[in-house]
Amino acid sequence: MRALDNAYAPYSNFRVGAALRARGGEVITGCNIENSAYGQAICAETIAIAYAVSQGLSEFDEIAIATDDSEPTPPCGACRQVLNEFAPNIKISSYTRDGREASWTLEELLPHAFVLNPSRGRV
Ligand code: THU
Repeated sequence: MRALDNAYAPYSNFRVGAALRARGGEVITGCNIENSAYGQAICAETIAIAYAVSQGLSEFDEIAIATDDSEPTPPCGACRQVLNEFAPNIKISSYTRDGREASWTLEELLPHAFVLNPSRGRV
């Protein structure tokens, strides 16, 4: 919820906060950051992963998401793929301001995730 308060979303007005728990217990947060060039918007979950990885953390157990929406929001498809890169078994919980909660595993939200096989595409 504190990360949600830092969201920069003047274009969509859809504010998102994320808190990622690393294997060692560290909690890294992120918020969505939009841009005048709309395509440059970055989701809260992806910001949290990018910040954590850039700090040397790469194993994660759980991510919490918070929005101002009335229903708990699951992560977008692109963020599911980003989470899968580092934490295919991560637990995802989403919260609303008034205490509604929903939880999923990434496996439930992104079955058959894409993983690059370097030999793919070679002749
Ligand atoms: N957004 C996130 O931060 N996480 C998601 O999983 C879904 C979407 C942001 C991106 C954009 O700033 C706003 O929500 C509306 O799409």
